Amino acid sequence: MTTRKLLLLPGDGIGPETTAQVEKLTALMNETVGAGFETETALVGGCAYDAEGAPISDATMGLAMASDAVLFGAVGGPKWDGVDYDKRPEAGLLRLRKDMELFANLRPAICYPALAGSSSLKREVIEGLDILILRELTGGVYFGEPKEIIDLGNGQKRAIDTQVYDTYEIERIARAAFDLARTRRGKVTSMEKRNVMKSGLYWNEVVTRIHREEYADLELEHMLADAGGMQLVRAPKQFDVIVTDNLFGDMLSDIAAMLTGSLGMLPSASLGAADEKTGTRRALYEPVHGSAPDIAGKGVANPLAMIASFAMCLRYSFQMVAEADALEGAVADVLESGVRTGDIMGEGCRQVGTEEMGDAVAARFRETLART
Ligand code: NAD
Ligand code: IPM
Ligand code: MN
Repeated sequence: MTTRKLLLLPGDGIGPETTAQVEKLTALMNETVGAGFETETALVGGCAYDAEGAPISDATMGLAMASDAVLFGAVGGPKWDGVDYDKRPEAGLLRLRKDMELFANLRPAICYPALAGSSSLKREVIEGLDILILRELTGGVYFGEPKEIIDLGNGQKRAIDTQVYDTYEIERIARAAFDLARTRRGKVTSMEKRNVMKSGLYWNEVVTRIHREEYADLELEHMLADAGGMQLVRAPKQFDVIVTDNLFGDMLSDIAAMLTGSLGMLPSASLGAADEKTGTRRALYEPVHGSAPDIAGKGVANPLAMIASFAMCLRYSFQMVAEADALEGAVADVLESGVRTGDIMGEGCRQVGTEEMGDAVAARFRETLART
């Protein structure tokens, strides 16, 4: 029987609450379709710092490397605000991304029909929205050196972050964008700030060359990232795949989240390069949202971003396409039935908590799986 090794890293805040909803789904799939998920759980983020002195231990990194896929909840919170930069909860996530070489972060923003009225934008602006932000995840200002605060000795300090992109890093994220666009509507919008940044200028040059040499049949457009942010809220349906650097991708995907109704709706997949021999790739799946300290422990967090991240895991790590479709369909059906967490609550809908939303999706998923 196939075994599928999943490492669960629930993390801090609402992370454990949302991750628990995915465990219901793996158990259900083991029982009904013999999926063979073997799950293991480890600490990451602030809870790992408290228990093990580091936001991710070498042992947990080893588990991540040895698993078929990692499911990550969320990290961080005010409790760890004063902790040194290298030991902060977020550093655990950054190490996972860097050491697993997860350079391609797929952040799809889909507006479910039932939520078209939940966004702060007008219904006609977002109805039918289906765009994909592809964020470069292992380079740029997140990791560039030097990265430090130096004492200038005259009562002044200097804080430095460095934006760095090498040719190969831009080439591989550009190829990933075009490959994804080929499975969608064939259009890539590359966003940078070539008007002020050398890295933006070079990003633009490399993406243009990869398009010309390898993907000339697809459409490529360039947009300055600030104007791109504006276009995302003005007319988001003009986009198909947006490819952008690590920092712009972070910001633009939070903006895109609100097009879907709530940050609690946006999933993501962080993928490494496919192994040439086996075709397998390292992968980590995580919601775009954070640990939501304001609602943590209350049982009200929306688990749908986490559940949709698991659907991406089924699709990209395990090629379980029918099951991924069934799970996404179950989410759509539950929303259609008027079951809502507080963040996406609408008129005439029934408000539920995290557990109940997880149970509703699991029940619907069980029904659809039985029919496929
Ligand atoms: P956040 O995403 O945690 O929360 C922003 C707002 O969205 C809050 O009002 C929160 O209640 C709401 N929200 C987020 N997810 C929700 C959900 N599933 N259901 C309902 N409402 C939800 O961002 P923040 O407050 O800026 O950051 C809090 C902490 O999380 C920080 O320490 C930050 O570094 C960390 N963070 C972690 C990740 C991650 O682990 N991947 C991502 C972003 C932020
Ligand atoms: C995200 C988060 C992370 C990022 C933090 C928690 C390190 O905001 O995944 O969007 O900035 O990449
Ligand atoms: Mn972010």
